[in-house]
Amino acid sequence: MTDKILQSFDIHGFQKQLIEWYQNNKRDLPWRHDQDPYKVWVSEIMLQQTQVDTVIPYFQRFMSKYPTLYDLAYADQQDVLKTWEGLGYYSRARNLQNAVREVVSDYNGEVPDNPKQLGKLKGIGPYTKGAILSIAFDRPQPAVDGNVMRVLSRVLRIEDDIAQPKVKKQFERFAEALISHEDPSSFNQGVMELGALICTPKEPMCMFCPVQEYCRAFQAGMEQELPVKSKAKKQKKIAYTVLLIRNDNDEYVIEKRPENGLLANMWQFPMAPVDEIGKDHIKNWVQLEYGIDVELSSKQGDLKHVFSHIIWQLEVVAATSTSDEAADDRLRFVRRDELENYPFPVSHQKMMQYLS
Ligand code: ADE
Repeated sequence: MTDKILQSFDIHGFQKQLIEWYQNNKRDLPWRHDQDPYKVWVSEIMLQQTQVDTVIPYFQRFMSKYPTLYDLAYADQQDVLKTWEGLGYYSRARNLQNAVREVVSDYNGEVPDNPKQLGKLKGIGPYTKGAILSIAFDRPQPAVDGNVMRVLSRVLRIEDDIAQPKVKKQFERFAEALISHEDPSSFNQGVMELGALICTPKEPMCMFCPVQEYCRAFQAGMEQELPVKSKAKKQKKIAYTVLLIRNDNDEYVIEKRPENGLLANMWQFPMAPVDEIGKDHIKNWVQLEYGIDVELSSKQGDLKHVFSHIIWQLEVVAATSTSDEAADDRLRFVRRDELENYPFPVSHQKMMQYLS
């Protein structure tokens, strides 16, 4: 199937045009300044599901805090989460640090250039593996993400649903057949750059495209119809009443989330799952859950936070308590100016505007 689609495709011409364009038009991005596998790795993890413009300042701050793989391996996890704060998908940071620790313990601190070893590290899937191997080690390995599938679906006019895992595997075979063996790094980054700057999801700028003459979707006038992508399931909505509990010492109650699952090990203000427990039972729920007495006072506002699979609908309510300690180790009473020492998800940072 790969063979048939590529039979009459000028692979060498496509590679040459793409690489030449990339070399003359690539953006000056901080992770493109050298080939240090650690830096390439960090950048590729940050760039998953996140725009380049958002990543740049995070990458720079991360590199000044943890300039080498050892700095990250020996860092405190809470510190790493704090540095990642605001970037979202925090499991990326936890997996990255676990993987870097594994590189220190099992590979003498050298990022493996062996695809099998690299692919076994936490958080390194087929895309990240291919990106590191091609960009840091000049290996002709495919690196296929959503952007790359968009570009290739148009160039090769593939009409299969890119949301299906077997279609993604098919695209990996195409990318493997297309990749330049002379300059795999520029080839892969060229496809990414083309997807970011020219072959955009809406209204691609085909008039400026360096590989227009190779593009089968353009020839058929169907670049806007591709890629075909079935819609993801709707996110499940969950309602919470979030409590900004203040005690007589002007301290607020914060809680560390469980070490697994959504926002693992991040901190938050207590969240009562209001649909489950009922609006009238919040006080009792807090007593049972945290062992502290509270009085609810006024509603402060509503917030919504959209994750990939769920949506939080948050009602923020102020409350008071006479407690100043909790039996539970995951609970802390902290002053307002101490809150900045803890990693909070964005939704909870937004609530800090309601603190007095
Ligand atoms: N998106 C994913 N990887 C990238 C890279 N290395 N440069 C620019 N955008 C990217």
